[in-house]
Amino acid sequence: MGWKSGFVIIWVFCIQFVLQSNAILDPLDFLALQSIRKSLKDVPGSNFFQSWDFTSDPCTFPGVYCDSDKVIALNLGDPRAGSPGLTGRIDPAIGKLSSLAEFTIVPGRVIGKIPETISQLSNLRFFAVSRNFLSGEIPAAFGELRNLHTLDLSYNQLTGSIPRPLGSLPVLSNLILSHNHLTGSLPPFISNSLTRVDIMHNNLTGSIEPDSLPASIQYLSLGINKLSGPVFTFLPKLNQLNYLDLSMNRFTGLIPCQIFSFPISNLQLQRNQFFGPVQPVEQVTISTVDLSYNRLSGQVSPMLSTVQNLFLNNNRFMGLVPGNYVDRLMDATIQTLYLQHNYLTGLEINPTAEIPLSSVLCLQYNCMVPPAQSACPLKAGDEKTRPTAQCIEWRG
Ligand SMILES: *[C@@H]1O[C@H](CO)[C@@H](O)[C@H](O)[C@H]1NC(C)=O
Repeated sequence: MGWKSGFVIIWVFCIQFVLQSNAILDPLDFLALQSIRKSLKDVPGSNFFQSWDFTSDPCTFPGVYCDSDKVIALNLGDPRAGSPGLTGRIDPAIGKLSSLAEFTIVPGRVIGKIPETISQLSNLRFFAVSRNFLSGEIPAAFGELRNLHTLDLSYNQLTGSIPRPLGSLPVLSNLILSHNHLTGSLPPFISNSLTRVDIMHNNLTGSIEPDSLPASIQYLSLGINKLSGPVFTFLPKLNQLNYLDLSMNRFTGLIPCQIFSFPISNLQLQRNQFFGPVQPVEQVTISTVDLSYNRLSGQVSPMLSTVQNLFLNNNRFMGLVPGNYVDRLMDATIQTLYLQHNYLTGLEINPTAEIPLSSVLCLQYNCMVPPAQSACPLKAGDEKTRPTAQCIEWRG
């Protein structure tokens, strides 16, 4: 009898062990999670790690997602708005989570470098650590992750250049590196699924190589950098664009007329060195077009009169403002028309006509007396009219 009951006890124990081992985390993942946990902590006011107790199954921890015995997603930090997030560093042990497909950290105060060991995460699809204090360079190892779909490192303190291998990633879809201190040039991209490129507010230089952005791009934000050179080499074929911000760079040359037909709602090309005439071939239906602070010249195109908020100020436009602008100001379909600081010679407006209060027109500092209703931003200065000498020069 003693023999039999002993057998039953062992047998029950084995069954239990087998049942549990289905859910037991791979020891390598278990150790990696412990190291990751040790390198990070909650900022006071955040309680994310409170329930991370390694005597129980880590696959039940908040933010840890497993598939059988492997961690496949790690979403670190309390995702609720206003949570102060985490502090500490990303431990190199992250590279041991060999099935990891998704890694995120909520906005907080995580410092240090992104570990090079991410090169081992061959299944990684999604990596997002926006709004922390990560520094150092973007590991070139990201360029080895053939499944990488989204990389969001925005609002950190990253320096160095964008690793060229990132451009060769075959399924890269979202690249968000805005608000860092990146330098160097923008690498060419081959992925035909690339839809979003946001490098806003860095220190990128150089020109954009011809055809270096695929036609699949819908959102392109390169604003506030030091990019130079022409744009006709890469822009005209990007006809899926619905957001384009190239503002505050050193782009030069003509503005390609094709872009005015793209399904964009906000076109921001201000503060560059674009020159020459602006001649869209059909009425433009983009609601906001900002071409201010460039070196654009020629007459103001009637095709832009359908834009609700149009900023053409601080350029070299000349001649008469076409009559259809006046019509659209009167029926209030134009909300903002900034034409100040050009060389315009007139606007065909009835002196008694009243521009609706909802419309803003500024014509200050041109080669004409602005209409009485001209409403200008402070920056336009006090001078109503450009000195006559400059106007003669420009007309000649
Ligand atoms: C760009 O470089 C300038 C001068 O080196 C520096 O003052 C500025 O902070 C940099 N901007 C960014 C976003 O890193």
